[in-house]
Amino acid sequence: MKTVQKYHGASIVLHWLMFLLLIAVYGCIELRELFPKGSEPRELLKTWHFMLGLSVFSLVWLRLLFRFITTQPKIEPPQPVWQARLATAMHAALYLMMVGMPLAGWIILSAEGKSIPFFGLELPALVAANEELAGTVEDIHETIGTAGYYLIGLHTIAALFHHYIQRDNAFLRMLPGGKRII
Ligand code: HEM
Ligand code: HEM
Repeated sequence: MKTVQKYHGASIVLHWLMFLLLIAVYGCIELRELFPKGSEPRELLKTWHFMLGLSVFSLVWLRLLFRFITTQPKIEPPQPVWQARLATAMHAALYLMMVGMPLAGWIILSAEGKSIPFFGLELPALVAANEELAGTVEDIHETIGTAGYYLIGLHTIAALFHHYIQRDNAFLRMLPGGKRII
């Protein structure tokens, strides 16, 4: 029996809040396909996609702040160096996605000359209207959006692999709750 050293509480809360937010961000944009173009539910789902995506953008900075002002608990028993490097690269890619995707979305709406809604506010345009730019960034947004499914899937498989196959404490470190005994 030993106590698992956990991530900082704020990092754990933000990790799982971001997880729920991303499910909603993806859910809204996928579900829009069920409704005809220009219909009210489709437009509403898109608006929620924008607003929740922008919430990811607001919170990811707080998350990065906690990452740098707190120490990451060690994985016990320690994992091989190649695995640690791969995990760091995967985490960097996930952070890049959480910063880059909303930023790209914000640029798309700006370049399309559309308003950028954020829970009753209207955010300023980041660039002047430019149809070509809007099209290019939308292609990038779609491609990285699809890649995001694979990144998140691999990350989840890795977490479960640690827990059920390697039987280390990697996953328990990211679970909420008091001090956990294994
Ligand atoms: C982490 C945040 C985000 C993720 C993971 C994400 C992901 C996606 C995905 C998967 C699509 C569908 C692409 C397709 O049709 O194949 C999409 C479309 C789109 N997203 Fe995002 N997005 C995010 C944030 C944002 C934000 C913040 C905005 C705008 C402020 C935005 C604007 C758009 C637009 C304009 C489309 C095209 C919608 C349409 O024309 O029907 N996205 N996004
Ligand atoms: C939208 C989905 C997700 C995103 C964007 C995401 C993102 C991240 C990021 C960026 C980290 C690095 C934390 C840091 O050290 O700064 C992390 C760690 C972690 N995540 Fe996720 N995560 C997601 C879903 C999940 C799921 C579904 C699970 C488990 C089933 C999970 C389990 C973990 C674990 C165990 C860690 C700690 C890994 C380690 O320290 O090596 N995550 N996650």
